[in-house]
Amino acid sequence: MAIYITGDIHGEPRERFAEPFANLTADDIVIVCGDFGLPWWSAKYGKSWGDKKRLNWLAKQPYTTVFVDGNHENFHLLNNLPIKIWNGGHVHEVRSNVLHLMRGEVFDICGLKILAFGGAHSTDRKYRVLDLSWWKEEIHNQEETENLKKNLQAVDYKVDIVITHAAPVRFLHPKTKDIGIDWSFFCDEVAELLTEIEPQLQYKMWYFGHYHLDWVDHECHCRGIYTEIDQLL
Ligand SMILES: [Fe+2]
Repeated sequence: MAIYITGDIHGEPRERFAEPFANLTADDIVIVCGDFGLPWWSAKYGKSWGDKKRLNWLAKQPYTTVFVDGNHENFHLLNNLPIKIWNGGHVHEVRSNVLHLMRGEVFDICGLKILAFGGAHSTDRKYRVLDLSWWKEEIHNQEETENLKKNLQAVDYKVDIVITHAAPVRFLHPKTKDIGIDWSFFCDEVAELLTEIEPQLQYKMWYFGHYHLDWVDHECHCRGIYTEIDQLL
């Protein structure tokens, strides 16, 4: 089996996935680090046909696509999907092979322990409409924080891979300095929680999307990922 990982796709998987994943099989998994963007439109707006078409395309692929939520997700749709257990953790089932990795869950995939925790603050909120193009649930609640801490305690704060949308602040410092942006621009409630958790956690690599930049920092064991694709297994 193989596991691949990439960054934000914003509702369009076909362009990123079609060619590189053309030969994958039913044993394989593709992970998206948030801003999956599907499903996006509530049926009442009459625009959900595009989401269906793209989800049906994914459903036809032999592999399983999984994602942590980003900030650009319709949380009212996501949070009302059926929940099931997949590789030891809870997921929302978008399609039988398209799954949302719920916040704070730890998955065991072929011996690889993967922690998932989505969410981030939409920095473009002022251009968006509440419950139409952004949702308050983009930021975690108390229950999700407790779930994270409970599940981490159960694995002794030891995982192999962490998958989030936002990132701990210390990961952002060197990169934001490089590109001349004040890191505090990216600092939000999710980054603060991850910053608090990170020193207690043992992990080999931490993947995150959100910043729309591809970079790797071997010293910090972190990988900001956007359009690039890495193979985990
Ligand atoms: Fe994004």
